[in-house]
Amino acid sequence: MTRTITPARNVLGAVRLPGDKSISHRYAMLGAIAEGRTAIRDFSSAADCHSTLACLRGLGVQATVDGNTVTVEGVGLGGLRAPAAVLDAGNSGSTIRMLSGILAAQPFTTAITGDESLQRRPMKRIIRPLTEMGARIRARADDFPPLEIHGARLRAIHYRTPVASAQVKTAVLFAGLFAEGETVVEEPVKTRDHTEIALAELGADVTLAHRAVRVRGGRTLQGRELRVPGDISSAAFFLVAALLFPESSLAIYNVGLNPTRTALLDFLVGMGADVRVSNLESINGELIGDLHASGGGVQGGEIGPDLVPALIDELPVLAVLGALSSRGITISGAQELRVKESDRIATVAENLRRMGAQVEERPDGLAVPGGQRLRGARLDSFGDHRIAMAFSVAALAAEGESSIAGADAAQVSFPRFYDTLDSVTEKQ
Ligand code: S3P
Repeated sequence: MTRTITPARNVLGAVRLPGDKSISHRYAMLGAIAEGRTAIRDFSSAADCHSTLACLRGLGVQATVDGNTVTVEGVGLGGLRAPAAVLDAGNSGSTIRMLSGILAAQPFTTAITGDESLQRRPMKRIIRPLTEMGARIRARADDFPPLEIHGARLRAIHYRTPVASAQVKTAVLFAGLFAEGETVVEEPVKTRDHTEIALAELGADVTLAHRAVRVRGGRTLQGRELRVPGDISSAAFFLVAALLFPESSLAIYNVGLNPTRTALLDFLVGMGADVRVSNLESINGELIGDLHASGGGVQGGEIGPDLVPALIDELPVLAVLGALSSRGITISGAQELRVKESDRIATVAENLRRMGAQVEERPDGLAVPGGQRLRGARLDSFGDHRIAMAFSVAALAAEGESSIAGADAAQVSFPRFYDTLDSVTEKQ
C-alpha cells in the first residue's frame, strides 16, 4: 500500500500507544511455560507479537485474545507439544530467536521460519550458544531460517555474547530455564533487561550482576496477571514528530520507562529538546510514566558504539531528526542496523537522499549534517516498519507532498500508527 503524506504545521494533543513489543513477546513465551494462567493486559497489537502467539498455539498452548488482553494457559516446563506444521514467525526476529531458546530444550524437533526479510536475518548468534548447550540446529547456509531445531536435555553454560543483543541473551536464558545447573550470560554492553525482570516476576531463580545474568534451571514458573507498558520505541516517532515543529505540545501516556530503554530521552534532552517525564510508577518491575514534549530547539549530537544497543530501534527516526536539527547527528558502531528488517543504514540514507538531503553512509553508521530542508518525495519503506514510520515523520516536515510505498509495513509494530499520527497533526 502506498500512502500519501502532506506536510504538517504542528503536533498537538495526547496519545496512548500500544503495549511494548519486547515485553509482550517475553510475557507470552514465559506465560506458556509457566504453571497456571497468565493474563496479560495491554498486550501489544503488533503483528510480530501475534506471530509469537501463533507459534505458541502451534506448540499446543491455548492463547486467547480479548481486546488488548491476552490470556495464556501455561503448560509448565514440560508441557509443550511437537507442532504438526512448520512454525511461522512472520517478520519477527524476536519470535524466532527467543523462542529457539525454549525449542532447544524440547524432546522433539521443531521447524520454524518466517517471511522473506526474516529468512535473510542471521541466526548463528543463537545457534552457537544453543548448540553448546546440547541442541542440534540446522539452518540454511548454517545461518538463516528456516531452522530445524532438534531439542535435547541441555547443560548450563557460561556464555559471553560477542554481539550486544537482548534477543541472544534471552534465547540463552530461556534455554537455561530447562538446563541442569546455572546458566550465565555476560554481555559486552548491557542491553534491555525485560527478560531478567519478567523471569523474576514469574518466580525464576535469577540473579543479576552488572553485565551478567544467571539463571538456575528446573525451577517452576508461576503464571500471574501482568500489564504491559506502552512502547517507548513507538513513542520515539511521536516525540520526534513533535520536536520538529516549534509550536508543538504533545503528551504520551503510560510509556514504558525501563532505564535500559530511556537512552532516547537522555539523548533528546542532551540535544536541547524539551521532553519531560511525570507520573512515574512501577508495574511488574517495569517503570512506566507519561511523557510531554514541546517543539523546537533541537541541536545535534553523536551516537557511538556504547550508546547504540540502547537506541538501536530509534536510530532511523533520530537520523531524520539529525537532518532537521541545527548541528546534525553522527552515528557510529551501528553495523547491527545492516541486519535488521532492512539494511537500515542503506534504507535511511536512500530515503533521505530522495528528500534532497545530504547524508554520508558509512559501513557502521551515518553522518547526517544539520540545518537541512527536506522536500516531499517518493519514498519506500523497503518492507521495514521502522523505516515506514521514520519517513512518515520526515514527510510531515517536508516541503510538498510525499508518498511512501509499502507504508503498511508499520503494522509489524504499530497497526494504528497512521490514525494515531493523524489524530495529533495539524496540517498546513
Ligand atoms: C529486541 C532486541 C533488539 C531490538 C528488537 C527487539 C528485544 O534486537 O532491535 O527490536 O526485544 O530483545 P537485538 O537483540 O537483535 O539487538
